[in-house]
Amino acid sequence: MCQDFGEPETLELEERPSPPCGPGRVRVRVWAAGLNYVDALFVQGRYQIRPPTPFTPGSELAGEVTEVGDGVDGWTVGDRVMASVGLGGFVDEIVLRPDQLLAVPEVLDFGQAATMGQSYATAWFTLTRRTSVGEGDRVLVLGAAGGVGLACIDVARSLGASVIAAASSPEKLQRCIARGAHSVIDTSSEDLKGRARELSDGGVDVVVDPVGGPLSEQALRSLREDGRLMVVGFASGEIPQLPANQVLLRNRRVIGVDWGAWALRDPAANADLLREVLDRVADGTLRPVEPVTYPLAEVATALRDLLERRVVGKAALDCADPAPADATVGPDGPIGSDAPG
Ligand SMILES: NC(=O)c1ccc[n+]([C@@H]2O[C@H](COP(=O)([O-])OP(=O)(O)OC[C@H]3O[C@@H](n4cnc5c(N)ncnc54)[C@H](OP(=O)(O)O)[C@@H]3O)[C@@H](O)[C@H]2O)c1
Repeated sequence: MCQDFGEPETLELEERPSPPCGPGRVRVRVWAAGLNYVDALFVQGRYQIRPPTPFTPGSELAGEVTEVGDGVDGWTVGDRVMASVGLGGFVDEIVLRPDQLLAVPEVLDFGQAATMGQSYATAWFTLTRRTSVGEGDRVLVLGAAGGVGLACIDVARSLGASVIAAASSPEKLQRCIARGAHSVIDTSSEDLKGRARELSDGGVDVVVDPVGGPLSEQALRSLREDGRLMVVGFASGEIPQLPANQVLLRNRRVIGVDWGAWALRDPAANADLLREVLDRVADGTLRPVEPVTYPLAEVATALRDLLERRVVGKAALDCADPAPADATVGPDGPIGSDAPG
């Protein structure tokens, strides 16, 4: 629970009675909750939406259906499900509307399912809806070892693009190569613009920028004719001011990406987008990462690690423990169980 906006360390673990599962609702035993940068922003009160306090943070989760209310079709007890909930996901049990649930593809375990929704939806939205990339395009991904970054590497690679991954340490860059990046730039020691141009024979076609700060202008300057800078986020904490002459030069474009607002405004279009992503996960074209995990009770440590750039890839809360006394462990068990993939 977030009683008041503050640092992650102020979050409190509370035992509460199970919410009722009435008609038209489904109860889910949550096995894993995905951690995202935005969860930390919500807790700190730094996100553009400030929910009334107290609230439970947590924007995405995966688990198993344990109860189906009257009038619900399409879901049965034991179904493996994932959901994007905005808030309320750092729990071991939740009651949701059936239309909030998606079936977890067989190839994913609960940890992967809980951590892929937001990052892959953002990556797919960025590279197939806000712009398009194809065979041979050069895509530069900033913050490439982060959640959005790794998903963008995977998505761009799946679309036939050549990916240049930029991240701040050799360990992070190693992870990017393992995930399919064709070349890498160490932003802690190399000149981003110069290296990106060298690696792309004069300029990249697309930059995906979830980081902001001084890297954004360097990335803009690395774009070739008709290159696109995709503005996704400001994990650095700094919103860049970009020189308009650098946009004019080479007929470049700077394009905003706001998947969350778009998904809320057009749920049907978002459902199509999620189906496209999950179909590609199911057939192995996209391969979401296995997250590092923390116990639910260590949510503060997990968010702190995320805020201080110690997480490589995705992180999840293991919600198997603490478990309600009457909880039964399903056939697939908690995170990291023997689910395929
Ligand atoms: N527009 C949208 O629709 C949308 C959707 C989802 C997320 N987002 C936003 O995208 C951003 C990235 O999200 P994410 O889930 O990928 O986060 P993440 O997993 O924490 O990754 C962010 C990356 O940013 C880099 N970074 C640079 N300076 C940082 C700093 N001071 N603190 C933390 N990270 C820093 C880090 O890489 P290096 O250490 O390698 O620099 C880190 O790996 C967030 O701002 C999030 O709110 C936007």
